[in-house]
Amino acid sequence: MIILIGSQKGGPGKTTVAVNLAVEFARQGKDVCLVDADNQRSAARWHADREEQGRQPAIACVEKLGTINQTLHDLDGRYDIVIVDVAGKDSKEMRTGMTAADTLLVVVRPSQLDLDTLDHMTEVIDQAMDFNPELDVRGLITQAPSNPAITERTDAGEYLADYPRIRPLETVIHERKAYRDVIGEGLGVVEWSNQKAKAEIQSLAAELMA
Ligand SMILES: Nc1ncnc2c1ncn2[C@@H]1O[C@H](COP(=O)(O)OP(=O)(O)OP(=O)(O)O)[C@@H](O)[C@H]1O
Ligand SMILES: [Mg+2]
Repeated sequence: MIILIGSQKGGPGKTTVAVNLAVEFARQGKDVCLVDADNQRSAARWHADREEQGRQPAIACVEKLGTINQTLHDLDGRYDIVIVDVAGKDSKEMRTGMTAADTLLVVVRPSQLDLDTLDHMTEVIDQAMDFNPELDVRGLITQAPSNPAITERTDAGEYLADYPRIRPLETVIHERKAYRDVIGEGLGVVEWSNQKAKAEIQSLAAELMA
């Protein structure tokens, strides 16, 4: 199964979601390959830290730029789960990745600036679906305020209602320090002490497998 994590805006949390899902699936006993298709190399750097520190379970990591669909198909035959992290823009990696993926996870913060990118994203998705009509497109809200006093719309169904191509996930990833803390350690939040972050990633993984 190939899960591609994309956005057309930088910084909503694609890499954060990618590495945390990779750890959760690996802990479930799945063979996981993380594909870093962003020349910023954030996921690859996290992976190098994980390897250096000898963290278990081990996760495979491949770096590939440019046209990535054939690489993804090859990896799909060798791993249970392939998680692809691309750059926060309309890129060749994102477009070619979409033609191979089973699931596209569109990651957005609860901000108008992120929502504004979704019309263009919908066009790109439509083009990819000419080649890959089975692509399952899911919307994930990330960095939602964790302060209960802030009543921002974070229900993805309501938030993404204007974008029928993107099927909202019930899981919402909140803004939590744990997500920042684990990255430098080569860990995922499911290996960390914050139970709320751990529950979010486990719930996301379960929804994607349902
Ligand atoms: N849920 C979260 N809670 C707290 N901080 C977060 C969360 N998600 C991401 N961040 C922080 O926001 C910043 C951007 O996250 P990340 O690098 O995962 O985003 P990205 O979408 O991969 O960015 P890019 O488009 O540059 O690849 C990082 O500093 C990260 O630690
Ligand atoms: Mg990134």
